[in-house]
Amino acid sequence: MSSITSKIETTEFTDPNLEILFSEDLIRERVGELGRQIAADHAGEDLVLVGVLKGSCVFLADLMRAIDLPLSIDFMAVSSYKDGTKSSGDVEILKDLSNPIRGKCVIVVEDIVDTGLTLSRLLEILGSRGAKSIRLATLLDKPEPRIKKELSIDYTGFVVPNRFVVGYGLDAAGRYRNLPFVAVVKDPDKI
Ligand code: IMP
Ligand code: MG
Repeated sequence: MSSITSKIETTEFTDPNLEILFSEDLIRERVGELGRQIAADHAGEDLVLVGVLKGSCVFLADLMRAIDLPLSIDFMAVSSYKDGTKSSGDVEILKDLSNPIRGKCVIVVEDIVDTGLTLSRLLEILGSRGAKSIRLATLLDKPEPRIKKELSIDYTGFVVPNRFVVGYGLDAAGRYRNLPFVAVVKDPDKI
């Protein structure tokens, strides 16, 4: 065997440190279901999807195209994980909404709910701005570590085990957001 053919090529999408949890096809199917459910719940309403940057960007892009209604989008950026994979407990607003939400039906779109601190803090902030309704949509829900905050999530893609996951917008130290699937990082020390 030549050295070229025997060489094992790994790319970002075939990283051996990743174990696929939800495939691209499965995510597409589930996001389609969530979009149809959101459309059925918001017919005739002034709907705005608020993406929480950066992690929700991939989910938001697919979800909005699965909602067959007039809608607008806006973004907030918050920083809650200052230090690797552990929650610091602090939620800092880095970027606020561009437009008022008074009278609108708001859906806050998150990549993952872990301790629930980020979303409950966002709800406190957005709750005083006169929206007609505020609902929560998250691609992933990691319910196990939620010892701090009880949250009622309206639209959940998948429930995940208490492991660190990446892909489809979710990162580990800034990397892996571009994976088309969601994967568990087998050994976080090898990132
Ligand atoms: P929470 O405030 O603890 O609910 O954390 C929510 C945020 O932490 C998410 O929006 C993610 O940015 C990040 N996060 C939590 N768990 C994971 C994970 O397993 N992988 C990647 N990011 C995560
Ligand atoms: Mg996030």
